[in-house]
Amino acid sequence: MEAGITKQTRKITKRRRIKKELAAGWNKFKSILNAMDDGVCLLSGNYDIEYINPVLEREFGPVNGRKCYEYFNGGREICQWCRNNDVLAGEPVYWKWHSAKTDKTYSIHDTSVVTGKGFSRLKLFHDVTDQEYIKKILKNYQKELRSLAAELSIVEERERRSVAADIHDNIGQSLAAAKIKLGLLKQSQLPLGVTGNIDQIAMFIDEAINYTQSLITNLSLPTLNDVDFSEALEWLCNQFQERHRIPISFEKQMEIAPIKDETRVILFKCVRELLNNIVKHSNAGKARVTVGKYEITVEDDGVGFDITQLKKKFGSAGGFGLFSVRERLHHLGGHMTIKSSRGNGTLIALKAWRQ
Ligand SMILES: Nc1ncnc2c1ncn2[C@@H]1O[C@H](COP(=O)(O)OP(=O)(O)O)[C@@H](O)[C@H]1O
Ligand SMILES: [Mg+2]
Repeated sequence: MEAGITKQTRKITKRRRIKKELAAGWNKFKSILNAMDDGVCLLSGNYDIEYINPVLEREFGPVNGRKCYEYFNGGREICQWCRNNDVLAGEPVYWKWHSAKTDKTYSIHDTSVVTGKGFSRLKLFHDVTDQEYIKKILKNYQKELRSLAAELSIVEERERRSVAADIHDNIGQSLAAAKIKLGLLKQSQLPLGVTGNIDQIAMFIDEAINYTQSLITNLSLPTLNDVDFSEALEWLCNQFQERHRIPISFEKQMEIAPIKDETRVILFKCVRELLNNIVKHSNAGKARVTVGKYEITVEDDGVGFDITQLKKKFGSAGGFGLFSVRERLHHLGGHMTIKSSRGNGTLIALKAWRQ
């Protein structure tokens, strides 16, 4: 009898000690949560709020016995997206949530913990409003940059055409008129020795006319509006081939899908930049431009380059040339892919633009 009572007393003492230790542990845990900069709450499996730290209380107010969906979302029902069961089953869940009440965006880490009462959900609220805001601003800047890059192409194109037209209408016409007058002068009676000079002047004028004509050709793209776009690209390849003495083959695998004038100008300039790069950097023996319905590839068998080095140096696309090709293409809803490695040539594909 005596021994039975002693055993009972020992059991009670042990239970009290464990309870005390648990309470001490919980108090310690709570003091850590209380001091955190992030919001923290503990929820029961029944959506009761067992604890919130001062950060959350400051932002969302006192709990007053409300369930979590009432307290955080002002709802009467369990939130549709709630993963209560998954979390309690041991699967941590992360998501981003914008609170209409605080007008802040939180990154939430929802996980299960063992408390004195069994399993609870521990929810951490990390305020990412500023990060999200900066991300949004950056995205807007990027969008503006893209449309600026595209607009730049159009404006540059217009300017080049207008300079070409100016040269043609003024210098070109004056030179042509001078040549006609000189021809007439040569037919008249002239003092000895003047004819030779006239021939020389005519030769200089011819040179100037040839030079202005090639200037006009270089300045104005083939009229992209009416010429078949593939033909314009072929013309470009021929121009590069003649000027830089690199064999550039052109292949039309399929008729390119119909595109707007603006798109044509942008794609044309992108291909021209890629051909310029081949001339400038590749030391290639040959190059090829291939046209498909929604894809143009420009490849060479030159020295190639290390794309990862380029990314480190200039960001994800390379120097300004490749950067502007990428941005212009994004503006058209498409994208650029680069395959290149040292010694193995380069293949750049422009893909999936909108019309
Ligand atoms: N076809 C190519 N072959 C070899 N290297 C290339 C080729 N195209 C681009 N590159 C490399 O990528 C870099 C970035 O190109 P780009 O963005 O057009 O800038 P930039 O031509 O002004 O240097 C080049 O400096 C060059 O090192
Ligand atoms: Mg370049």
